[in-house]
Amino acid sequence: MTTLGVNIDHIANVRQARKTVEPDPVQFAFLAELGGADSITVHLREDRRHIQDRDVFLLKDTIKTQLNLEMAATDEMLGISKKLLPDYVTLVPEKREEVTTEGGLDVKKNEKNLKNFVKILKNSNIKVSAFIDPESNQINYSKEVGFDFIELHTGRYADLKGDAQYEELQKIIESTYLANDIGLVVNAGHGLNYQNVKKIASINNMNELNIGHSIVARALAVGLEKSVRQMKSLITSN
Ligand code: PXP
Repeated sequence: MTTLGVNIDHIANVRQARKTVEPDPVQFAFLAELGGADSITVHLREDRRHIQDRDVFLLKDTIKTQLNLEMAATDEMLGISKKLLPDYVTLVPEKREEVTTEGGLDVKKNEKNLKNFVKILKNSNIKVSAFIDPESNQINYSKEVGFDFIELHTGRYADLKGDAQYEELQKIIESTYLANDIGLVVNAGHGLNYQNVKKIASINNMNELNIGHSIVARALAVGLEKSVRQMKSLITSN
């Protein structure tokens, strides 16, 4: 059954708007777990615009599910992840000027560096995932580099409508099957919401969906426990 990873970066965004202590993403992770989150995802960015170092270490000590650390493949992040020992690391491309992660990782272009990076993380018993566009060569290179998981970028699917969205969905389905065939576990995420999630959740062997913005946005109206519960119920009612 497809599971739900809840990304709580946007809780930290509200805190950082005032650089104060509330709302605390660590406390909200507890509510996400009460609502049925199967894992908690945070992106520790180089510029620390939302999640801070203390958040990731407190989360590691306090959550009861699994911690998925999203990060760029830099020496600084490698050092932090070796100390933190999250359950998973998801490698993402990162640009200072972007509002959110824009495209997938170019695994092919960075094959040599990534191979070494992934090896070091795996030696620390951390499972490693690559956030990639749903393209066959990126999938094949992800296997080659040694990733355990891939996370398929659903941002384009979320932005498109009608026939174009249907075509993108087919690409995501074919990518999932290809990745499964070569032994990669497949997650997906970005831009998923209460309206568009079901088609992605119902793909065979879809392991986990990582969802942040839509869940936190709905939490403003109904509370985080409930917004997580509602998303989880959509994902698991296939
Ligand atoms: N997966 C990855 C790799 C991401 O970078 C993000 C955004 O932080 C998400 C999933 C969640 O995207 P959204 O906030 O649009 O649900």
